[in-house]
Amino acid sequence: MSAPTSERTTSKNSGGDRHTTAERLLKSSAKKAYDPAVDIDWDAPLDPDRIWVPEHRVSLYGTELWERMTPEQRLELGKHEACSVATVGLWFEVLLMQRLLKDFYAEDPTSPRAQFALTEVADECRHSQMFARMVKTAGVEPYGPRESIRQLGKLFSVLNRGPAAYSSILVAEEVLDRLQREQANDESIQPLMRQVNKIHIMEEARHVSFARDEVTRGVAELSKAELAYQRWICAFTSMFVVRSIINPKVYASVGIDPKVGRRAALDNPHHREMIRWAGEKIMPFLTDAGMVGAPGMTWWRASFLLGEK
Ligand SMILES: [Fe+2]
Ligand SMILES: [Fe+2]
Repeated sequence: MSAPTSERTTSKNSGGDRHTTAERLLKSSAKKAYDPAVDIDWDAPLDPDRIWVPEHRVSLYGTELWERMTPEQRLELGKHEACSVATVGLWFEVLLMQRLLKDFYAEDPTSPRAQFALTEVADECRHSQMFARMVKTAGVEPYGPRESIRQLGKLFSVLNRGPAAYSSILVAEEVLDRLQREQANDESIQPLMRQVNKIHIMEEARHVSFARDEVTRGVAELSKAELAYQRWICAFTSMFVVRSIINPKVYASVGIDPKVGRRAALDNPHHREMIRWAGEKIMPFLTDAGMVGAPGMTWWRASFLLGEK
C-alpha cells in the first residue's frame, strides 16, 4: 500500500495552486461566520404544535405503523428523529475534526490549507455545541449513533485518510445539507430547528468546497492498490453513516419496539428514497471523481444512496 495521502500532501503543499481554494474559503469565512451562542434566540419558547421535520421525511412515513399513529405521536417521532439526525451529525463532526487535526499536525501552520483546516475545526466545534444545545432545549436524549457504531467510529481516522476520508465526510455533510435546505424555508417547521439549519447550511457550503477539492486532487495521486482500498473503506464508512442517522431508540418515544421500528424503516420505500434523494448531489460527484466502484459496490448498494439497483 502506498504512503498515506496526508504525508504526501504535506510535501506537495509547497506548491501554490493547492492553496487557491483554501485562500478563497478563508476570505469567505472572514466575511460571514456565525456564533450560535448569540445568533440563536435560545430563550424563545418552543411551539408545541410545530413539526420538527416534514412528515414525509419521518422514517416510518407511509408504513402500517405510521397509519396507526396519532398526529401527536407523528409529531413526537419527528422531533426525536430530528434530534437523532443532529446528534449523529455532531458525532461525525467530532470524527471529522480528528481527521483534520491529524492531517495538519505536521503541516506549516501558516499555509492557507492549514489555516482553513483550523477554521473548519472551529466551525465544527460551534456546530457541535449548537446541535447539542438544540437537543437539550427540545428535551430529547442526545442519541448519537448506536453504541456499536460509536465504538467502530473510533477507527475512522485510523482507517480513513485522503480522498476516502473526505468522500465519506462529503456524504455526511451533503446528505445532512439536503435535508436541512428543505426545512430551512418551511414555515411549518419549529423556528429553533430552522435557525439551526440556516446557520449550518451557510457554513457547510465552505466545508463542501474544501472537501471536494481534496477528493479531486487526492484521487489523482493514488496508486491502483491504494485506490481500491480507499474505494472500499469510503463505501463501508458511508453505508454506516447514512444507516445510522436514525437511532432505533427514537421509536420507543412513541411506544414502538426499537427493533420493530428499525426493521420497518429499513424496509420502507419512502425512507430508502429519502436517502437516495439526499445523496443525489454528492453521488455523481464521487462517481466522476472515481471513488464509487469496485470493490466498494456492495456497501454502496446497502447504503440506499444509489437507489433501487
Ligand atoms: Fe457542521
Ligand atoms: Fe462541516
